[in-house]
Amino acid sequence: MKAKTKVAALISGRGSNMEALVRAAQDPACPFEIALVLANKADAGGLATAEAAGIEALCVPSKPFGKDREAHERAVDAALRERGVEVIALAGYMRILTPFLVDAWEGRMLNIHPSLLPKYPGLDTHARAIAAGDTEAGCTVHLVTAGVDEGPILGQARVAIEAGDDDHALAARVLKEEHRLYPAVLAEFVRGL
Ligand code: GAR
Repeated sequence: MKAKTKVAALISGRGSNMEALVRAAQDPACPFEIALVLANKADAGGLATAEAAGIEALCVPSKPFGKDREAHERAVDAALRERGVEVIALAGYMRILTPFLVDAWEGRMLNIHPSLLPKYPGLDTHARAIAAGDTEAGCTVHLVTAGVDEGPILGQARVAIEAGDDDHALAARVLKEEHRLYPAVLAEFVRGL
């Protein structure tokens, strides 16, 4: 049997998408393993979740690097390569990447974004969708390229926006879909490598 593809999940906070990937990877038929969870903040809640699941949880803090985002990415990249990581899954990793990391992992770095891209790149996606009077929202898994929240779309899931939804209610409904979409798209992606 082909060895499982080693995936690193990069997080900045809660890490619920990372947790969904970890859960999916526990299925023996899953073609990927979460080999590492890496956060850029020591207080990222997902680090403890990963540790509890028996996965290496590493913090490479971005703060000490100040404005030198590339130097921080070089430290992240070194940690990933030391562990033989093959694919990066950004999972609520709230850093704008420099060309260094994007180029180094071209075609091997995925991101999940809480909107139906190309609509609403950036932040506050749910509030913007409601304010625009949209009738549906959703989430997108895409390959990471130089533009923020751009890059080829690998999969999307849609939810209805209901009368009376505020951004919290909508975010919760979309998040459930994120947890379903990301493992499925990542599995399909690594099968194609
Ligand atoms: C998720 O909704 C994810 O789509 C979003 O941050 C949240 C992280 O939650 N990502 C972005 O907005 C990236 N542009 P999580 O830490 O519980 O997975």
